[in-house]
Amino acid sequence: MIEQQLWHPVIASHQVRSDPVACSLLEQPLVLWREHTHDGTRVHAWADRCPHRGARLSLGRVLIGLHGARLECPYHGWQFSADEGRCQHVPAAPEFVPPASHHASLFEVREQHGLVWVRLQTPPQAMAPDLGDPPAFAQSSDATWRTVLCGPYELNTSAPRLVENFLDLSHFGFVHEGWLGERGHAQVQTGVVEEGVGLVVRDARAWQPRAYAGVDGGAWIAYRYDVPHPFAAMLRKDATQGDPVSNAIALFIRPDGHEQCTAWFAMATQGDASSDQELIAFQDAVFAQDRPVVESQSPRALPVGRTAPISEVHGPADRVSSAYRRYLKRLGIALGTC
Ligand code: FES
Ligand SMILES: [Fe+2]
Repeated sequence: MIEQQLWHPVIASHQVRSDPVACSLLEQPLVLWREHTHDGTRVHAWADRCPHRGARLSLGRVLIGLHGARLECPYHGWQFSADEGRCQHVPAAPEFVPPASHHASLFEVREQHGLVWVRLQTPPQAMAPDLGDPPAFAQSSDATWRTVLCGPYELNTSAPRLVENFLDLSHFGFVHEGWLGERGHAQVQTGVVEEGVGLVVRDARAWQPRAYAGVDGGAWIAYRYDVPHPFAAMLRKDATQGDPVSNAIALFIRPDGHEQCTAWFAMATQGDASSDQELIAFQDAVFAQDRPVVESQSPRALPVGRTAPISEVHGPADRVSSAYRRYLKRLGIALGTC
């Protein structure tokens, strides 16, 4: 399954401190824990199951000693080393030297954009370059941009439905009336859509009465979208006339099943005087407008023409969403699609 071979965000980095925490990805229970090293910290993502008798390692604790960091199982106290998850100590038989087969199951893990990313399976061959790493979000590593993480938002719909909503300008005048759009200005320009490994949309435009947290006047806003991963998308918006604010938002989603997902937004701004709390409050308010509509969509899986006779009809302003559906189908994404 290709979904197992992709990087997915699982939890915000700041939630993984010294104590182990449990979470789950694609029905794989995970224990995440942070090791403090001489030059920083490192997060580990292991299967949340002790290889001895199957207890949850997330109920255990992290031990720091001369030997480095170890995770101790809550049941019989076996200790597993940070490096390879190998069992180093069995307290009930201290002379026993555990063989290499006594080890926890480890997954690849990275921290990026304020989130912990996990890949459950290493692909058998090289993935398309854009899928071999967690998606890049240029603004989050550029010191001239300020980035805040919003979420998590737990949703009763599929990850693809949410990505499609994020790419859709034509709902602004209705769902976000007075904020991101106006009924009387509902016409949009869908821009130029490039379908390559992922999707790029240039020069899409919409009228926005209140495009940013800190701006009150209306403006035509130019959007650029990037979809580098089936469950991640970024937009960059710039006012077309002299507004000093630039704004970029990345949507990162953990798929929790066919009809559930958890989302975060990384918001990056240049020139916006709003505080972090104001930016988060703005995003929370916008998302609260999307939620009831997106959760009402039936079916919750996105029809991409993979299996179902369910059809949806399209209008001329839906070119981007049609391109996104083709992208999912081309990659063979079954999770959250039909
Ligand atoms: S179940 Fe983990 S040490 Fe026994
Ligand atoms: Fe929306």
